[in-house]
Amino acid sequence: MHSHMTSLRHLSDRDVDYLVRRGAWFAGPESRGHRPLADLVVGGFFRATSTRTRTAFASAALRLGAGHVAYGPEDLQLNTGESMEDTARVLARMLDALVVRTAGDPREVEALAGQGRMAVVNAMSADEHPTQALADLTTMWRHFGRIAGLRILYVGEGNNTAAALALALPRYAGVSLCLATPPGYGLDAEILAEAVRLAKEHDASVWETHDPADAPGGVDVVYTTRWQTTGTSKPDPDWRAVFAPFQVNRALMARHQEAVFMHDLPAHRGEDVTAEVLDGAASIAFDQAENKAHSAKAVLEWCILGRNE
Ligand code: CP
Repeated sequence: MHSHMTSLRHLSDRDVDYLVRRGAWFAGPESRGHRPLADLVVGGFFRATSTRTRTAFASAALRLGAGHVAYGPEDLQLNTGESMEDTARVLARMLDALVVRTAGDPREVEALAGQGRMAVVNAMSADEHPTQALADLTTMWRHFGRIAGLRILYVGEGNNTAAALALALPRYAGVSLCLATPPGYGLDAEILAEAVRLAKEHDASVWETHDPADAPGGVDVVYTTRWQTTGTSKPDPDWRAVFAPFQVNRALMARHQEAVFMHDLPAHRGEDVTAEVLDGAASIAFDQAENKAHSAKAVLEWCILGRNE
């Protein structure tokens, strides 16, 4: 029986923690030669640009023994008017899983998941980037040996990555997540409410501020994302002025002497983060990128075969 990975809201705490630990396991030597997806086929349908996520899932499928079929934005008959539902019904008779980046309407992912035969993985929609958060928690787990009790400062737009982090981190006891977002570019109110609800359940805390000076000092992780989220544009011509106080630079990192720096990438040096921070000793952003490949194995295995425990 397969499972979809369309939103972290559909995962239990146990599922999230299992996927984080399993991603870390796939990073280790014991996983070599583990090919549980032999004879299966995984598709990758990316309507928007991607370097990390598409490569992570394609390489994960191949290394786990599956075949892989890649579709770009112009490849499917969707472009000539075939419906998303019919596309899903057909692909489900040929593929075991489909990894899809719409970068747009999340209902497209749900339409693909509506068939009953093929697992669907949301590789980023407008509202959520669930596999990014799973890879990020795997990175934290590998770096700190725990997630419970970590203090995380997220700085930047309340985008799909922020939403996924807000739905994943407060599953762990004592986590503190502060989202410092530019005014007018905050987290979706319904996602924030769900994150606060999860935090209450787990003795954790999640809150948002639009004033970087209000953010706590001495956190364990400073996290940011690019200012122009993939597949989006900002109608306000002066948006950069609103984002400028949210740049992660030496002055911001000086308030967090022990912190590691994380970035989901791609980064724009000089905008969301300065080069000296991204390339500096505190940065684990490129380990984080590598962990997307380890985590993608855990996601594909879980979606297609279920928990391995
Ligand atoms: N972080 C992330 O999703 O990277 P890509 O857009 O390159 O897949």
